[in-house]
Amino acid sequence: MSVSKRHGSYGFDAPWALAGLLFGAIALVALAVVSFALDVLAAGLAFLLGGLYTLASAASYVYTTRRGKFAVWAEELQRLEGDERLLDLGCGRGAVLLMAAQRLDKGRATGIDRWRSKDQSGNGEQVTRANAEAEGVSDRVELVRGDMRDLPFADGTFDVIVSSQAIHNIPDAGGREQAVREAHRVLRPGGLMLIADFQHTPAYETTLRGLGVVDVRRRDAGWRFWYGGPWFGTGVVEARKPA
Ligand SMILES: C[S@@+](CC[C@H](N)C(=O)[O-])C[C@H]1O[C@@H](n2cnc3c(N)ncnc32)[C@H](O)[C@@H]1O
Repeated sequence: MSVSKRHGSYGFDAPWALAGLLFGAIALVALAVVSFALDVLAAGLAFLLGGLYTLASAASYVYTTRRGKFAVWAEELQRLEGDERLLDLGCGRGAVLLMAAQRLDKGRATGIDRWRSKDQSGNGEQVTRANAEAEGVSDRVELVRGDMRDLPFADGTFDVIVSSQAIHNIPDAGGREQAVREAHRVLRPGGLMLIADFQHTPAYETTLRGLGVVDVRRRDAGWRFWYGGPWFGTGVVEARKPA
């Protein structure tokens, strides 16, 4: 499915990681140039290959954060029927939240975040609000400043819970487990949970199974969701809470 034209501005995920890849590529190419100038050909070739490889990783990273993740989520969100109450954990500037909202002509999309700029460039509640305006969905979007480990919602409030590249930002395993437990708590019986993350998805699945969710699947989101290469690929956990 093609991604419809976006009118908002969504920044770069973990900009420091991309900066590291670009800096590494430039440093390796510079070392290659120096090595060739000094006639150390084997080292020059090794640095050049390393530099090109790192540059290719940076290109993959840029593709994923600017286009690939939107394409994957556009497919995931096709299953929305239009009247759901949806929650996005760690919505950031609204990449997934607002795409979902566009499908919820009779529903409502809530995004919760702490809006940390370390995790996404230019992150901010006002930026997400402006994006909701730009995408024409502000009437059906609610933004909540909060921590996904302690969700300020009653049990069973939402029909669908999504989260993209957010839960791994919680540094400790106990905190990440708490976030998944909270997501499960605020999901209604029979509701759908979709978590995309480049780390820890087996642990999310284990937590959900421990909570009695039997309908859980974990899959690879494919090359469009690589943050630099297959070693930083994204897994998707899909779960249906027992009715
Ligand atoms: C890499 S960004 C991804 C944003 C968005 N889901 C997307 O795909 O564009 C991760 C987001 O998680 C948020 N975040 C990190 N820890 C959080 C926490 N404990 N509670 C709520 N949000 C959190 C960050 O502020 C950031 O907006």
